[in-house]
Formats: sequence, C-alpha cells, structure tokens
Amino acid sequence: MMMLETRTQVRLLGLPGSLRQGSYSLAVLRGLQPALSPAVDLQIGDLRLPLYDQDQDGPSTPQTVQAFRQAVAESDGLVIATPEYNHGIPGVLKNALDWASRPLGHSALTGKAVLVISVSPAFTGGVRAQAQANETLLAIQSRPVLGPQVVIGNVTNKIRDGRLTDEPSLRFALSAIDRLIALCPAVRRAEYADQSLG
Ligand SMILES: Cc1cc2nc3c(=O)[nH]c(=O)nc-3n(C[C@H](O)[C@H](O)[C@H](O)COP(=O)(O)O)c2cc1C
Repeated sequence: MMMLETRTQVRLLGLPGSLRQGSYSLAVLRGLQPALSPAVDLQIGDLRLPLYDQDQDGPSTPQTVQAFRQAVAESDGLVIATPEYNHGIPGVLKNALDWASRPLGHSALTGKAVLVISVSPAFTGGVRAQAQANETLLAIQSRPVLGPQVVIGNVTNKIRDGRLTDEPSLRFALSAIDRLIALCPAVRRAEYADQSLG
C-alpha cells in the first residue's frame, strides 16, 4: 500500500543571496530563526557553488551542486533573502537557481513553495530583485508565495548583532512564512496550526 508522507515538523531552507560574511540578507534569515514556531525548522544554506556549466551537468555534476539539490529536495519550502545588485538578482542566486532548475523535468524546485524576501540599505528595499527572482521561479514552475511582498528597506537600521530585530519587519515576514507553509504539501497543516498558536 502506498503511504503518503505527512509530518508536523516543517523543514525550511533559507538561502541568502549574498556570500558576504556580514550580509544583511543572512542577518534577516538569522533573525527569523528564533522568531519561528518550534514546529518550524529553518536551516540556512550557502550558495557558494561553481558557475553553471551544462557540460558539467550530468554524470559529473559537482558534489557541492548535488548536495545543494538534495537540500532543496528535502526541504518543504525555501526562504530566499536577497539583496539587489544593479537592479537585478545577484549572480550567485541566479547561478544557484539555474543549477537547481535541472535536470530538466526533474528539478527539485518544481512545485516547491518559495518565499522571496528582498533587502537593501536603500529605502527601495530591492524591489527589482524581488520581481526578477519571482520571474525566474515561475520559469522553473516553483510556487512563489503570493500576497504582500516582503521588502525590507533601510535594513542597516533593523539589524542588531547580526540578526534582524525590527519587530514590524519580523511580523511582516512571519505572516508571509505562514502563507509559505500553507503551500507546503507534505505538512499536516492542522497539526502545525495547533503547535504554532501564539
Ligand atoms: C555590485 C553591487 C550592486 C548593487 N546594486 C544595488 C541596487 O541595484 N539596489 C540596491 O538597493 N542596492 C544595491 N547595492 C547595495 C546592496 O544592497 C548592499 O551592498 C547590501 O548590503 C548587499 O546585501 P548583503 O548585505 O546581503 O550583502 C549593490 C551592491 C553591490 C555590491
């Protein structure tokens, strides 16, 4: 008999679109970790991958890429926190999404729920990167979280000790994470809701 796997623990993978040690995007993910319900586990990944090369995509796929694809596959959903570079998404993020979009027809991202949070020291909050990321996710047939977009402007003033601490930003992002979880098929939503009260 085929069993449908359902779990009460939600496994989210956070991906900062910046490799910088003091990254504000990373700080946003770090700030979300303790603010989440105990029913939600948010692990933070690293986009330090080789440049996409179709000649390397097959039997000789680099080990780091295989591990990245597996981490995406094993997660219930993704939380991407990204800066904007020159009015677009950083190359490292696009590169990672391109690797994860393959093998064609078997991408770990297809059908995966994905929340994009854009971050900037500017008041514009990286809105153009937000739009571009969602466009790429649609091309991969992921499920971008709909509704109010989480755009964090003036982020420099909202970080303390390497974590997002600004209450309104945290509340706004947490409500989007609730919408993300509602899109995760393997999660027993009723039980998650019981555990996340308060
Ligand atoms: C190459 C480059 C291009 C940038 N372009 C933009 C931009 O278009 N819009 C913006 O709001 N900030 C831009 N910035 C500033 C970044 O938002 C800022 O450096 C931010 O802190 C980077 O994110 P991080 O803190 O997660 O590393 C740019 C920064 C770099 C290095």
